[in-house]
Amino acid sequence: MFDELRQLLEKIAAEHGAEGLARAESLSVERRRAAALPAEAAVIVGDLADAEGRYRGRIIGRSPKMQALYAMMEKVIPTTYPVLIHGESGTGKELVAQAIHQGGPRSDKPFVAENCAAIPETLLESELFGYKRGAFTGADRDKLGMFQVADGGTVFLDEIGDMGSSMQTKLLRTLQSGEIRPVGGKSNLIVDVRVIAASNKNLKKMISEKSFREDLYYRIAVLPLELPPLREREGDILLLAEAFLKRFSGQMGLELPTLTDSAREALCNHRWPGNVRELENEMQRALALSGPMIAAEDLSEQVRAGA
Ligand SMILES: Nc1ncnc2c1ncn2[C@@H]1O[C@H](COP(=O)(O)OP(=O)(O)OP(=O)(O)O)[C@@H](O)[C@H]1O
Ligand SMILES: [Mg+2]
Repeated sequence: MFDELRQLLEKIAAEHGAEGLARAESLSVERRRAAALPAEAAVIVGDLADAEGRYRGRIIGRSPKMQALYAMMEKVIPTTYPVLIHGESGTGKELVAQAIHQGGPRSDKPFVAENCAAIPETLLESELFGYKRGAFTGADRDKLGMFQVADGGTVFLDEIGDMGSSMQTKLLRTLQSGEIRPVGGKSNLIVDVRVIAASNKNLKKMISEKSFREDLYYRIAVLPLELPPLREREGDILLLAEAFLKRFSGQMGLELPTLTDSAREALCNHRWPGNVRELENEMQRALALSGPMIAAEDLSEQVRAGA
């Protein structure tokens, strides 16, 4: 066991230099013990320099921008402050929100997600805060809101830029007081939830246009996280492409196909307006249409244009 640990530390020193070794040696005894077990070894090496394998292997990416994001996430995870995640569509905002919840002290409590853009404002209020029996026609019994369901855990408010102004005011009140009032209720209830909000809109611009409350912004943006567009993540496109191919071919019981040079070039040159989600779909599509080799011709027209 200790031989294994020593070998692992030597491996870390060889790969990541003295700084990596110092960090490895400063890990808790438990972590080092875990590190000595082969299955965990990859995770701990990953912790030091290689982002793949982090957060249960779900967030893939090693580019400098993703490393910067992981560094911020490490700071954010142990706290209970609200988090605001900003990024283009498909960059992984929900994935990051889940990782923050799962990595932190609230992981054994619920993570509840609500898309603020998908439902009308009056409905959103009763979704988030619940309602009392008789609050409106059809309310034939009390209903718990997301903030109560998630008590002790995390509420993820997706597309917060689409939240209407009266809900913004109510949410601000909740964040200030730690209390909610169910629709039709006469008194407030204390709740303990961490709020993670996400938006692909420029909320600061919305503030200047008076469509987002500035005080709410500063409440939720205590710890802002910026998810970079895929096209700015150097080296991550192929890393993700191969990870998706591995995942989907495994799920479908197919042999893992290889990407030809022309396909790689096309993937790297494409701008990926739909970001990681677009790449994920592209790989699913390519896997379904191609054989053991994926060539540029097997890619969709818009991606192929970059070859
Ligand atoms: N770094 C990543 N590693 C692996 N998978 C990723 C990564 N980023 C995103 N994904 C995958 O891409 C898809 C889109 O991610 P997600 O839904 O979190 O994005 P989003 O930013 O919330 O998108 P939208 O703005 O459209 O709601 C998901 O299937 C997610 O698992
Ligand atoms: Mg999302």
